[in-house]
Amino acid sequence: MLAARLGLASWTIALAAGETPRLPIDTLAADFGLVAPPGLHAAGAAPGTPDSARLALGRALFFDPVLSGDRTIACASCHRPDHGFADPVPYSLGVRGQTALRHTPSLLNRGLGEYFSWTGQAMTLREQVLLPIHNQIEMDLGFEEIAPRLRGDPRFGPAFEAAFGRPATITDTGDALATFVERIWIGDSAVDRFQSGDFDALNESERAGLWLYESKAGCWRCHAGRNYTDEDFHATGVGAREGRALPGRFEITGEDSDRGRFKTPTLRGLALTAPYMHDGGLATLEDVVAFYRRGGNPIAERDERLAPLEMTDAEALNLAAFLRALSR
Ligand code: HEC
Ligand code: HEC
Repeated sequence: MLAARLGLASWTIALAAGETPRLPIDTLAADFGLVAPPGLHAAGAAPGTPDSARLALGRALFFDPVLSGDRTIACASCHRPDHGFADPVPYSLGVRGQTALRHTPSLLNRGLGEYFSWTGQAMTLREQVLLPIHNQIEMDLGFEEIAPRLRGDPRFGPAFEAAFGRPATITDTGDALATFVERIWIGDSAVDRFQSGDFDALNESERAGLWLYESKAGCWRCHAGRNYTDEDFHATGVGAREGRALPGRFEITGEDSDRGRFKTPTLRGLALTAPYMHDGGLATLEDVVAFYRRGGNPIAERDERLAPLEMTDAEALNLAAFLRALSR
């Protein structure tokens, strides 16, 4: 059961963009996801036991539209818990029906992150969780408006006092949200069980796919380590038009060598989080494998680790089966 492996298994809340989620704040102190699941222990960086009041507050804020200017959009409107905290549409809708500029990434295992967002615009989760609030397309609530609005809110005002011992501040808002987000875990997959000695955990096709991932398909060169990402930036040509790369990480650093580079996402939880890539342009895992078989998209900046792969159709199916096994 996929759901059983998610740190937030009991959630059955289905949210459409713009729908206003309502969760009573006093029922949110559940002790979920405090420990990284098997397969991730070795990844380290697991945060310690959180303050339960801050965790509950962060969880409540995540589901509440109070942080958007016109009170219509919550974090969960785009990062949908029923969809691996990603969005089933390529581009999410923010306030006033505006379209986000990139695909909403999954929040699974971001507690292990080193850079945040597709271009690494933030270097800490506490900083990243505040950016969508201020973003005029996504939530459009000015930074200076956050604390006054929360202090005056009959539910959140007292909840901040209880959790932090002082009236709401922007820093404490980031801390509460991050305390929640860094506990959205996925681990203990069939691949982890196989690697820890349960040889029946993977079928023949999935085992062949794991071997391809580790050998000639070269996926491990970037999707490395226990969370299947090097937390680094690479140019794969996603979104390129007529051979021209998008700016990508260049937008943040201004370095020419960063043109076309985007952050490597985890491969865990993919069965939940379609569509794929920063433009949500690939609908299925078979499409993703086809993309890598042709060596990504041709751009001058393309990462040297990518080149057309010699792979049979059967091998391509095996690779996709392996990717699914990372969510099972
Ligand atoms: C309108 C849709 C939308 C809303 C609302 C939204 N996000 Fe996001 N989120 C995105 C998109 C799109 C990105 C990627 C931005 C980019 O790379 O340019 C993102 C990126 C992130 C990341 C970085 C993930 C990574 O892979 O490093 C985190 C963490 C995050 N959002 C948390 C939140 C939180 C917390 C809230 C609520 C305060 C929120 N988001 C509200 C769409 C949304
Ligand atoms: C050169 C580094 C590199 C290699 C090698 C690589 N990837 Fe990626 N992968 C990335 C980057 C960077 C992205 C994000 C690209 C974007 O959206 O602009 C990505 C995105 C993905 C995604 C989309 C995940 C999501 O949440 O949207 C999947 C799936 C994926 N890669 C699978 C693979 C597989 C399978 C292989 C081996 C055939 C592979 N990758 C090889 C760097 C790499």
